[in-house]
Amino acid sequence: MKTIWITGGSSGIGFATAKEFITNNWQVVISSSNKIKLESAKKKLELNNNKTLVHAIVCDISSKNNVDETINSIEKNIGKIDIALLNASAYSPNKNQIFDISNYELLVDVNIKGTLYCVDKLKDVMKSRNNTIAIISSPLGYRGWPTAGAYGISKAAQLSLSESLYFDFKKLNINVRVICPGFIDTEATKKNSFKMPFLKSAEYAGKKIFDRLTKGKEFEIIFPYLIVYFFKFTRILPYKIYFYIWKKLGNF
Ligand SMILES: NC(=O)c1ccc[n+]([C@@H]2O[C@H](COP(=O)([O-])OP(=O)(O)OC[C@H]3O[C@@H](n4cnc5c(N)ncnc54)[C@H](OP(=O)(O)O)[C@@H]3O)[C@@H](O)[C@H]2O)c1
Repeated sequence: MKTIWITGGSSGIGFATAKEFITNNWQVVISSSNKIKLESAKKKLELNNNKTLVHAIVCDISSKNNVDETINSIEKNIGKIDIALLNASAYSPNKNQIFDISNYELLVDVNIKGTLYCVDKLKDVMKSRNNTIAIISSPLGYRGWPTAGAYGISKAAQLSLSESLYFDFKKLNINVRVICPGFIDTEATKKNSFKMPFLKSAEYAGKKIFDRLTKGKEFEIIFPYLIVYFFKFTRILPYKIYFYIWKKLGNF
């Protein structure tokens, strides 16, 4: 039986993806930092499913010890991790555009350092096993967006990290993949005050991620195509045009 570890599996995209893998008879370990939220997610996943497939371990990814212990515990007591979906993320848009260092520190600790701690331990246990590390980044990492400085740098870092590790981990026989969803309706995006084009459900994202992770081998997984390709296109726009678009969109 195959095993997937999903960080941030207590809500949103992580939870919906966990559901999809369990329905398809994978053994699933969900982690997140809030025990109550995690236990409640576990109960929901057990409903109408084979309970033996569902596992939950509290793990705050911003703690290296916690990450190491969690991965050791999964490998020893549950099963060898075939796929690690590094999905956990903190998100706090800065609507008033006032630079707040504590917000930057939080997002660097969780989204960047947390991802690095997971990768660091996974590289040791997954070595020579042809397993997969899939990192969820975001189109907000493609360019700097107004009000999204902290989140943007964390997502840009994850994107760049995934590209570098794609090359470097070939030697370890570990597949590295990156996932960039468009706007998905979750607790995180409920914090947005702007209208999100092509907003899709978490269930839609879960199905796409299950499908591509289990049936495809491509480095990059994106959905829905139209909006993500539009964001990709903005990467090549000269600053004059890029800044002009934002001025027109939101008077930034
Ligand atoms: N929603 C979108 O439109 C969208 C678009 C592009 C990319 N993404 C990416 O997709 C991923 C999932 O986002 P989402 O929208 O599903 O967000 P979400 O519903 O807010 O879920 C975030 C998850 O991360 C967990 N988490 C937060 N801090 C953590 C920590 N320190 N350690 C461990 N877990 C932690 C949360 O649980 P606890 O609170 O229990 O820790 C929760 O389970 C993120 O990487 C996000 O950047 C989302």
